[in-house]
Amino acid sequence: PAQRTPLIAGNWKMNLDHLQAVAFVQKLHWALKDAKHEFDTVDVSVFPPFTDLRSVQTLLDADKIPFGLGAQDLSIHDSGAYTGEVSGVFLKRLDVRSVIIGHSERREYHAETDEVVAAKVQAALRHELVPVICVGETAEDLERHGASAVPVGQLEAALAGVPASADVVVAYEPVWAIGSGQAATPEQAQEVCAKLRDVVRAALGDDAAARTRILYGGSVKAANIASFMRQPDVDGALVGGASLLVDEFASIIRFRK
Ligand code: G3P
Repeated sequence: PAQRTPLIAGNWKMNLDHLQAVAFVQKLHWALKDAKHEFDTVDVSVFPPFTDLRSVQTLLDADKIPFGLGAQDLSIHDSGAYTGEVSGVFLKRLDVRSVIIGHSERREYHAETDEVVAAKVQAALRHELVPVICVGETAEDLERHGASAVPVGQLEAALAGVPASADVVVAYEPVWAIGSGQAATPEQAQEVCAKLRDVVRAALGDDAAARTRILYGGSVKAANIASFMRQPDVDGALVGGASLLVDEFASIIRFRK
């Protein structure tokens, strides 16, 4: 879709320490430069662990590397007695641009409810961080309710109280496709992403629906990215495992080649 710049986002999850992260970003940048990649045609963001953010930010700034920096989570609070939590205020100060919210691993292992996800979206917006709102159905949900009911409900909850002018990204990640090697088909992804765009339209209006990027995530690799990117309502990918491999991730970013 012409007016939406594609976004390829790498969610590193709990992988790569700060030294490995710096080496990885340098290598990825070199690989793209070697391939004569046109950096302004696709937005690239990396989402390292918290402990890597400062080092990666320093490298991006020093070497003028045009990747966006994101975090994998944030607190619903801005400061105070919340041991172990990380505030959006601190992320913003580090030049972090976006933050993954409601990843299925947070929903599953950290009991994040739709209410917590909505509060995190508000926390991100308070600090001008772009929330990358993750939604998706489990295999059981798929069997019981079909593909779109659960992600649609999750996105409606996350967007409650969000102003129409807000800059948000949506990531459709079917839980059964994450890390399984079993990606959704491009047609399945398109069907749900189109419904998610309808949710954005109902909640935030036509302009927001036209401008908001909706990503597919779940076993994206160099071999399948182009088929997802051909779908009219898929504007990019949230990549896990394949974002940890320099050449593979570079090929995903260069999906047009
Ligand atoms: O957030 C991205 C992720 O959950 C997808 O993981 O390893 O299937 O690409 P993977």
